[in-house]
Amino acid sequence: MSDTLFDKLKKYGEGSTYPMHMPGHKRNAALLGNALPYGIDITEISDFDDLHNANGVIDYIQQRLAAFYGAKKSFLLVNGSTCGIMAAVVSLCSFGDKIIAARNCHRSVYRAIELYNLSPEWVIPPYDTQTGIFGCVTAESIEIAIEKCPDAKAVIITSPTYEGVISDIDKISLVCKRHGIPLICDEAHGAHFPLFYGGRAFSDISVTSLHKTLPCLTQVACLNIFSDKVDIDRLAETLQMFETSSPSYVLMASADRCMSLLETDGKELAARHTKRLEHFYKATERLRHLYIKNSENCDKSRIVICCENTDISGRELFDRLRREFDIECEMASMRYAVALTSICDSDEGLICLENALVAIDKNLRTVQCTPLPKMCAPTVCKTAYAAERCEKTLVSVDESIGKVCGEYVWAYPPGVPVIAPGETVTAQAAQNILEMRRAKLNVISRGKEKILTLK
Ligand SMILES: Cc1ncc(COP(=O)(O)O)c(C=O)c1O
Repeated sequence: MSDTLFDKLKKYGEGSTYPMHMPGHKRNAALLGNALPYGIDITEISDFDDLHNANGVIDYIQQRLAAFYGAKKSFLLVNGSTCGIMAAVVSLCSFGDKIIAARNCHRSVYRAIELYNLSPEWVIPPYDTQTGIFGCVTAESIEIAIEKCPDAKAVIITSPTYEGVISDIDKISLVCKRHGIPLICDEAHGAHFPLFYGGRAFSDISVTSLHKTLPCLTQVACLNIFSDKVDIDRLAETLQMFETSSPSYVLMASADRCMSLLETDGKELAARHTKRLEHFYKATERLRHLYIKNSENCDKSRIVICCENTDISGRELFDRLRREFDIECEMASMRYAVALTSICDSDEGLICLENALVAIDKNLRTVQCTPLPKMCAPTVCKTAYAAERCEKTLVSVDESIGKVCGEYVWAYPPGVPVIAPGETVTAQAAQNILEMRRAKLNVISRGKEKILTLK
């Protein structure tokens, strides 16, 4: 073994690589100090409250989170949004229920669906076959799904998405309210929204990862309740199923510090970052081949660099930024790369990215891209719960077409499955998997090169 994990982290921390990735604190010690962690790493001792029954210092953090998000009640989470999403779904559904879910949901939603043997009515958001980016979930599509599945126990969607696409939660929540179905919004990527976008749209429950876009240590998240439809005690109980009984005080302290910083300097830091972003978006208008995705319904702090009409893939762009310009981005897909920014960035950081993109862009060529396979509603033969309990066999991707899938296949990040257990493998899904592998994305599947199908 050459370098241990610790050695590697230390080297990375001391190195010159600019982090255009999570966590949102960007290791900015100049802004955040170095006070975390050994000296303050404890367990539940007298006077230090209990996350699972908070009524002291931990509850004080929760109260400030609730004020920040305009929530009726906020739960601080130390197992990421993953545990909040699973608890939200499980608290609203019973085993075997129906649920309406956007197809581009994170794998935690798929896990909750599997765990509780839920039958999902999938809503497929519009999918841009040029870039491979899902668009907004519309209120109309939720209305149609509810008409098809009026006995669903919850609706769950993701907004903003990994690529920063924002849906109209106000409109969607009105539809859900009219039908008496609670709306869960996975806002894992939108923890910073109150700072930048002011007035908030309220779902019944939202789950957000403070660590992704705010100055918080990795894993810190928050579940917000906005309506009376949610049984708070039941949710608190359910969270205990998914969250450690030894929550890290270091993580919770980082939420405390984060709230203090936001309360005192949040507005100013956000205003400064907005200026930085405005400069970046303006300056990168001069790119001739690459372009920065920029529309009204997008979170500007998430820089999505599109390269579909160039002779470079998202993965290659990601690698060149890393190798030649010492910039580590958040993720690469086939036709874009994502650079994540936050209030902890520096002017120099964004200027480095701007200069790197201009330099790369200079030598690119324009090529006509072929459309990616469409994302269609899956044909579901069995619930994921049932499929996971069937006998399975490994077959090649080509051979799997028409068979029932026995596993999840996804590119990580963002962790949205192309196919899930119990769904028939379509030619389109197979093509998508092959293209993702060809593009050297991090495709996760138990079958590795092959696919697990039901016998
Ligand atoms: C849309 C979405 N939801 C939820 C999560 C899970 O968040 P966490 O890593 O905080 O558990 C992720 C993680 O990337 C995500 O992309």
